Amino acid sequence: MNAIPGSNTFPSCHGGLENLDEEHNYWIDQIEGEVPLDLEGTFFRNGPGRQRIGNSRYGHWFDGDGMICAFTFQEGRVHFKNQYIRTPKYLAETEAQAVCYRGFGTQIPGGLRKNWLKMPANPANTSLIHHGGHLLALNEGGRPWAVDPGTLETLGEFSYEGGLKPGQVFSAHGKIHPRTGDYINFGAGISGFGMKGPKPCLNLYRINSAGQLFQNHQLPLGSFPFCHDFALSDRYAIFFVGSIVFGNMLPVILGARTISDQVNFDSKIAMQILVLDLEDFSLVRSFETDPGAIIHFGNAFESGDELIVDGMYQDNFAANDTLSDVFDPEGRFGGGYYQRYTMNLKTGDLQCERVVETESEFPTINPTVAGQRHQFTYTACSIDNGADSFFNGIAKVDFDGGAETVTLPQGYYGSEPVFAASTGSSSEDDGYLLEVVYNGFDHISELQIHRAQAIGDCVCRLKLKHHVPHQFHGLFSPTVFV
Ligand SMILES: [Fe+2]
Repeated sequence: MNAIPGSNTFPSCHGGLENLDEEHNYWIDQIEGEVPLDLEGTFFRNGPGRQRIGNSRYGHWFDGDGMICAFTFQEGRVHFKNQYIRTPKYLAETEAQAVCYRGFGTQIPGGLRKNWLKMPANPANTSLIHHGGHLLALNEGGRPWAVDPGTLETLGEFSYEGGLKPGQVFSAHGKIHPRTGDYINFGAGISGFGMKGPKPCLNLYRINSAGQLFQNHQLPLGSFPFCHDFALSDRYAIFFVGSIVFGNMLPVILGARTISDQVNFDSKIAMQILVLDLEDFSLVRSFETDPGAIIHFGNAFESGDELIVDGMYQDNFAANDTLSDVFDPEGRFGGGYYQRYTMNLKTGDLQCERVVETESEFPTINPTVAGQRHQFTYTACSIDNGADSFFNGIAKVDFDGGAETVTLPQGYYGSEPVFAASTGSSSEDDGYLLEVVYNGFDHISELQIHRAQAIGDCVCRLKLKHHVPHQFHGLFSPTVFV
């Protein structure tokens, strides 16, 4: 048990960042409550499974190796398995029990000589997509990694048969376009070299439901964008290029500093909103708003001439210090604030409002309402309950801002809540919220199943035999993969 300094009362969130080196495969038999019989399918999650290797720890949360978990629901029983993605980094570092690759915030021991001209490795640790017959593990610093959805075995690095060109990276937050079934994604890139050095751009990709990448477009930009996510409506892709900026990259190239060292929040830089036409990715209109950054987006939809976009707003990037030293007991894992941007594409008018005051992140919706007027958004919340600042609650936020919030007991820490529709679901919130919770008292994790129509009703707690390190993103597929 990890007590927080000065308290000795509640376990801290840091136990949930310790390694899970073992790979498991078993039917869950410690169940409190009843597994709903109208819940069938597979809940996949991805995140860093380890923060330490040998006697070292990684220099950033984002550098831990990707580990996929799968909870499979079948006829009232639930199976659990987890497996690491066999990237070159994972294989080499497991063998050496030492840091062998650079990361976003990690240096190879040995100084400049070991690090200069080395690109950060892709740990495949951020999210997943299941589309076009492929389950892919994603990280914005590289290409997808294909995984067998039944066994979680690594199938290999993935390029859509060369559709992704050499050097093109693929973000962790592509989105499936509801009307066409196409998968839209992007990556920060270089469109060429000029007098001032590399020319920054956004690479935009469109993949059809057969899994073929059929559009690969470059949008030139004035500077390298720090875009982790974007919003998607029926006709538009919307990017917020905010106040988190990359500084001088020469010390990174020379091996003296990491990319994380050179990322800054500049409060003098206004946030630019770029609205792109989905047909050809051309720029339709741009807007400017207060300095800040949107790390994750909720839903977006059109209403007449207006475009409505939900996102989690931050006015600083102080959390990067915590993420660079995840075991620091003084570190604070902060979230953002749920805001709504209403843009008039004809007049250029822009309105922004705070939807709910609770510190929140990881907004999710019922995917069947994506791109349309939705009623509910689900979020992970940071609530002051006397324990650590890590996510310790979930909320169901109504479109108009009313919220039902569930706070976990002190010493328990949550994650991104994912909506799973019940079999024969008849309304937007007819289903369940799936929430992986770390129990710091016993150093184990559990999957909580909350009824989405009243999230205070936790119908089932599935207790694992071990902990699951805090993860980033997941998805629910109605297919039973075994
Ligand atoms: Fe993310």
